Amino acid sequence: MTLRLTPHDLESAARVLQAGGTVAFPTETVYGLGADATKPAAIVKIFQAKERPADNPLIIHLYSFEQLDRYCSAVSDVADKFLKAFCPGPLTLVLPKRAVITDLATAGLNSVAVRFPAHPTARELLRLANLPIAAPSANRSGRPSATTFEAVVDDLDGRITAVVCDEPSPIGLESTVVDMTGEIPIVLRAGGVSLEALQAIEPTTIMRTQAVDSSVNSPGLRHRHYQPLARVVLCRSLRDVSIDSPKSSAFIGLEATGDKKFGLSLRCETVDDYARLLFDFFRRCDTEKIDTIYCQTVEEAGIGYAINDRLRRAGEA
Ligand code: TXA
Ligand code: MG
Repeated sequence: MTLRLTPHDLESAARVLQAGGTVAFPTETVYGLGADATKPAAIVKIFQAKERPADNPLIIHLYSFEQLDRYCSAVSDVADKFLKAFCPGPLTLVLPKRAVITDLATAGLNSVAVRFPAHPTARELLRLANLPIAAPSANRSGRPSATTFEAVVDDLDGRITAVVCDEPSPIGLESTVVDMTGEIPIVLRAGGVSLEALQAIEPTTIMRTQAVDSSVNSPGLRHRHYQPLARVVLCRSLRDVSIDSPKSSAFIGLEATGDKKFGLSLRCETVDDYARLLFDFFRRCDTEKIDTIYCQTVEEAGIGYAINDRLRRAGEA
């Protein structure tokens, strides 16, 4: 049985982490599944619970900037500027690694991804545990990330030591991952901090392009991701699609469905709402036995890069 904890029980949650157990907890992006990043036996439990491929490295979550030097061997001036501008927050920086982080957590790479979550529950847990906490998204590998504790329980009940049952994650998509180990910052995964915001601090920052084979730099991007059981079909507008079986079809996007009928549909008022509700909608579609989910793509700007990226990857066969 997985222990259910509340945000008032964080001391218990911290003790579980210190004892080498696994704890799912809320962050502002998605729920994470945490364990002590210095203990190989604890990290193995994360990979087992999620059925995650061992070559996909984890993000290390820290409480304070002072901890950085203990786990990273070099923090460049640009990395420092990003930290000051966006952390704590939905940004992950890939930096040169020190040996105290177990190689199991970083899949043997000589770099480590670090993030300072802003969510008050996550921060308090990190402060109490006083450890670097490796935490991937708290879902079974390949499934949509968990943005609610109910989603965590659906995927991982009985497989993890404890879950902190809190409110849904306010952003709903994962952090922006930026590789800081090269000449210029490269965004490996679009997320909560936009490309434009990064470029305002460091104009040379670029988005990893599909053309560049980044499998070396970001092993995680090779694997299947974010996939509901239903088929995901992308569209620019509902005008472009003809629906064969409305009852078993669903729609999510910014547009009103008008005279088109669906078994399930969600019109999002803003792109922020779209980001926040997308993964939960995918999971609802599975519960409702939807066959096909039509997803409207959005403008490539701000959080829109991340939305389109998750939609594309959910739609990959
Ligand atoms: O918002 C988030 O980032 C959430 C919350 C829980 O913090 N975590 C998360 O972790 O999304 P995960 O494991 O689902 O995704 C981590 C991504 C993967 O694409 C992985 O390949 C990449 O970060 N990554 C981790 N370490 C890396 C490294 N050293 N070099 C390059 N990419 C790395
Ligand atoms: Mg994930």
